[in-house]
Amino acid sequence: MPLSPALGVEISAVDLCALDEAGFAEIRSLWNGANGLAVIRDQQLSPEAQTSFSRRFGPLFGEDDHFQNSVQPYLLPGHPTIYRVSNKKSAAGESMGRARAGSYWHSDVSFRAKPAMASLLHAIEVPEYGGDTLFASQIAAYAALSPAMQQLLAPLNAVHDFRVAAQTSGSYKTSDLDADDFDGTNRAEHPVVIAHPESGHSALFVNPGFTSHLSGFDPEESAALLDYLYRHITRVEFVYRHRWRAGDLVIWDNRATNHLAVQDYSADRYLHRSTVIAQPPARA
Ligand code: SIN
Repeated sequence: MPLSPALGVEISAVDLCALDEAGFAEIRSLWNGANGLAVIRDQQLSPEAQTSFSRRFGPLFGEDDHFQNSVQPYLLPGHPTIYRVSNKKSAAGESMGRARAGSYWHSDVSFRAKPAMASLLHAIEVPEYGGDTLFASQIAAYAALSPAMQQLLAPLNAVHDFRVAAQTSGSYKTSDLDADDFDGTNRAEHPVVIAHPESGHSALFVNPGFTSHLSGFDPEESAALLDYLYRHITRVEFVYRHRWRAGDLVIWDNRATNHLAVQDYSADRYLHRSTVIAQPPARA
């Protein structure tokens, strides 16, 4: 069932732990056809099952490339591919995951030369209401630009740097951060308009969370153009708002979407994310 005109498909009555190759190919094709967002209901995925399903999309952060150092404390012990997103604390008062993760529009790991392809987020405990996640189609956003703007953006590159989120989002404490967040390891340049390698669609690939500037422009020029793009790429008609149910597995394509986690709740929220590594994005 489609979830919105711009993106998203809901898939139910499937058991991801017992999925053959044809079943996986169908999910992948529905996901691509829905501009890179699939909501799969009623899953009971152990960390092992989530990791093995995620690997069907490609290599994973945590085993084929490292997550940045400041993410390490939030990985599930014994499961280096599972990043815990949570506001919960253990009985000993330790964080059970990254609180306030992704509370700004972004594409996961866009600050790496090989950024994230798919992210798979499995809801284990969610508030009765609140804690929704917003997804914006960057394919729909690109398609809605005028031909003149599309032409202007076509040859441009943007620099993505984790320090932008660390310093401007307000969601990181100094104690959350590590030297490698600032030493250039988590910094990369990508085309502003990328070609989706599976669907062939053009998509905008900038986000206010991690993009620091447009290459070759004066800071003021870059800020003005990015400011326009940030307003454009999050227009409501490109956005689907996901209200979580326990058991959901949401799969988004970071090469076709930006997302934002709404921080409007205090009840317990606990989710497991696995993250597939992309090839360097290619210019459209
Ligand atoms: C994230 O950006 O991976 C977190 C999304 C969420 O908590 O809904």
